[in-house]
Amino acid sequence: MAKTALLKLDDKEYPLPVMTGTEGEMAIDTRTLRATTGHIAYDQGYGNTGSCESQITFLDGDNGILRHRGYPIEQLAGHPDFVETAYLVIYGELPNATQRKEFGLRLRKNAAVETQMQKILEGFPTSASPMAMLSAMVSALPAYYPELATNNFEKDLKNFDLTAAIAISKIRTIVAMIYRYQKGLPFVFPKQELTFCDNFLHMMFSEPYQDHVPLPEVSHALNLVLLLHADHEQNCSTSTVRMVGSSAANLFTSISAGICALSGPLHGGANVAVMQMLQSIHDEGDDGTRFIAAAKSGSKSNRLMGFGHAVYRNFDPRAKIIGEACDVVLKKLGINDPLLAIAKNLEQAALRDEYFVSRKLYPNVDFYSGIIMRAIGIPMNMFTTMFAIGRAPGYIANWKEVASNPKGRIYRPRQIYVGPAKRDYLPMADRK
Ligand code: SDX
Repeated sequence: MAKTALLKLDDKEYPLPVMTGTEGEMAIDTRTLRATTGHIAYDQGYGNTGSCESQITFLDGDNGILRHRGYPIEQLAGHPDFVETAYLVIYGELPNATQRKEFGLRLRKNAAVETQMQKILEGFPTSASPMAMLSAMVSALPAYYPELATNNFEKDLKNFDLTAAIAISKIRTIVAMIYRYQKGLPFVFPKQELTFCDNFLHMMFSEPYQDHVPLPEVSHALNLVLLLHADHEQNCSTSTVRMVGSSAANLFTSISAGICALSGPLHGGANVAVMQMLQSIHDEGDDGTRFIAAAKSGSKSNRLMGFGHAVYRNFDPRAKIIGEACDVVLKKLGINDPLLAIAKNLEQAALRDEYFVSRKLYPNVDFYSGIIMRAIGIPMNMFTTMFAIGRAPGYIANWKEVASNPKGRIYRPRQIYVGPAKRDYLPMADRK
């Protein structure tokens, strides 16, 4: 017997169906609310509202659980292969050997970025935000692949495999191009014989007559960091991709919008803000007390960056994995980063502080990710673009769910108007 909720409003009762997800999470289906009651539901920031049914990722914020297509993140991280996880997130199953090989080949074949696109980068000052440059370059892709970006779901889905491979592979290459452009270095072209991560490191750090050959530990760490960012349910930027995609905008355009949302310091931009916070603590010889005290002021601009989460009321499992990996990677690379010790002390201090404990604020994915990225040589201003490389599979999988949903509708939330009531136009002479 299907479960229903009963809404009592004035002297009438309205039964509303209850939906139950795979893991028992429940929702009251309010799709008929406005038509039957004349009321809309109100949920500022959608923190208590499900915008879709999705088969990609399951989060349990209270118990710190993250699974992609049913596979626990801890198990995927145990065999860190970003391309394998990207395939799983997009296609729903772990690839067999042939599928993994073919997918990897598709990425390698589509790694190069059209030379003409370099002019877009060259239109930016080298000091421009890497995320602004990344979003601009991705939003230009439909101009180079119009046949893949027709803004017609049926046509665009016919070429989905190629479009998805282009998106994942070229976002990675564009990030390396942005790094080279900002440094005033010549672009390094991808090599088809290299793996996804090694090709990225090659395009970032090779010199004209000296190929960069990354240590296996660095490749392993990069696969892990990217894999841990692959998808995360309906976060701000992924919801943006779905919102834009729901207008039948093509995949590249929708991802470009997601990259803009990701750039905010409350979201993907937090990994840069965390390192700036840790560096300030280090430079001031502080023990973090000042930052913790400021963070408790409640102002959004003083928050303890890398802490708290819109869903997790427990440890972000990714933070635990990255935190543990920091020790291993830095030791293997013989790096002694003072910011790691500062981060650990800050974590311990916050986890003992009633303000954080009472609000269930724990480290999130951004708290330690910058330390690993710095250890593998990524400059701080590129950290959020690394998040975008990692999140590309999640954006793609979510766009595909929107594009292939036969009952899908354009996302169009309502509002409660609280502005001025009706009033008549005043001629200039009568205005104060
Ligand atoms: C990501 O959604 C996702 O899944 C995102 C992400 C993904 O993979 O896509 O996980 C990636 O964006 C991780 C989050 C990165 N951002 C940060 O680290 C920035 C710092 N954290 C926050 O600003 C905050 O925790 C958010 C934005 C992450 C969550 O904000 P919410 O859900 O709106 O939380 P809230 O503002 O309702 O906070 C509840 C209380 C408030 O205090 P009171 O009003 O109850 O007194 O907790 C406080 C907040 O002031 N609070 C913090 C805090 N985070 C929340 N206080 C100090 N420091 C913090 N970091």
